[in-house]
Amino acid sequence: MRLFRSYGLPHNDKEEMKLEDINKVLILGSGTLGLRVGLQCAISGFDTVIYDINEKAFDHAIKEHSGILAMLIKNGKLSAEAAEESKSRISFTSDPELAADDVDFVNESVIENLEIKRKVWTQFGLLCPEKTLFTTNTSYLLGSQLADACGRPERFCNFHFHDVFYSNVVDVMPHPATATWVYQLLMDLGRKLWQTPIFVQKENSGYVFNYMLLALIGAAGSLRTMDVATIQDIDRSWMGNFKMDMGPFGILDSVGLETAWHITNLMPDKKSQAFAKLLKSYVDAGKLGVKTGEGFYKYPDPEYKKEGFVSG
Ligand SMILES: NC(=O)c1ccc[n+]([C@@H]2O[C@H](COP(=O)([O-])OP(=O)(O)OC[C@H]3O[C@@H](n4cnc5c(N)ncnc54)[C@H](O)[C@@H]3O)[C@@H](O)[C@H]2O)c1
Repeated sequence: MRLFRSYGLPHNDKEEMKLEDINKVLILGSGTLGLRVGLQCAISGFDTVIYDINEKAFDHAIKEHSGILAMLIKNGKLSAEAAEESKSRISFTSDPELAADDVDFVNESVIENLEIKRKVWTQFGLLCPEKTLFTTNTSYLLGSQLADACGRPERFCNFHFHDVFYSNVVDVMPHPATATWVYQLLMDLGRKLWQTPIFVQKENSGYVFNYMLLALIGAAGSLRTMDVATIQDIDRSWMGNFKMDMGPFGILDSVGLETAWHITNLMPDKKSQAFAKLLKSYVDAGKLGVKTGEGFYKYPDPEYKKEGFVSG
């Protein structure tokens, strides 16, 4: 029997891993975030498998990878040769057994739904070898809501990226049964993946940045659903005051409106539910944000990036 422990208490685990033991990485979910985490893992030298139940997601990921790599080459962050090598380290599969074969590290980025995530963790907990370290990229769920599903809660930890390339911060948030060595290793892994690791010392839905962001996004949503101002004026206000490149609705488009709806819909209060209804109307119309070419704005040239948008 495994004993649960409190934060900060010494914890021994015979099967402790080191950073150099991680060779093969598995990304569960090839959507907005999974494809980006997968690419960064490959750039950092890991053999990377990206798994999804929807094979169409792979075509999108391959296209996105080329665009991101071209941007990294242009900005002098990666040589053309290193970019090609990174691509050669990535493989895609919809076969769960193949995906889990000999894997050292998993980062899960399937849709933000507790039931689906628990099913996926039960499936991969059974398929992955004993040595595997399990992490989730969930935006708002807690490790303690998911960890038992994988069957090895002490090897399970939240490891939450933001955008990976534009915002390179990763949250490391253990749940009370995570082994100490696991989150210590993840702090080092975060640095190896070109991220600034933030240690979240107590389980908190939304970690650190998303907790703050949610307050902003929720307020922006209410300003719109209460008809106080237009989407453009709400973004213009934020951008003009803080000299930011985008406002809350531009941020929502880049996050993806389906993910935003899943999160907002979990909040029972009236204001969140009114905003969830607005988000759902966009989702139902197929307007999911940047990835479908339209959300609150139209892409690739959204109105808020045009000269004179902020000055009005
Ligand atoms: N989008 C962001 O900016 C962002 C940032 C940080 C964290 N996250 C988190 O990452 C996760 C994924 O979000 P996203 O925006 O990439 O979503 P997304 O909708 O773009 O992608 C989700 C992917 O999961 C796949 N999927 C669904 N069920 C599956 C299953 N049973 N097995 C395998 N794959 C399955 C879908 O086919 C899809 O390709 C969520 O938990 C979200 O909260 C998202």
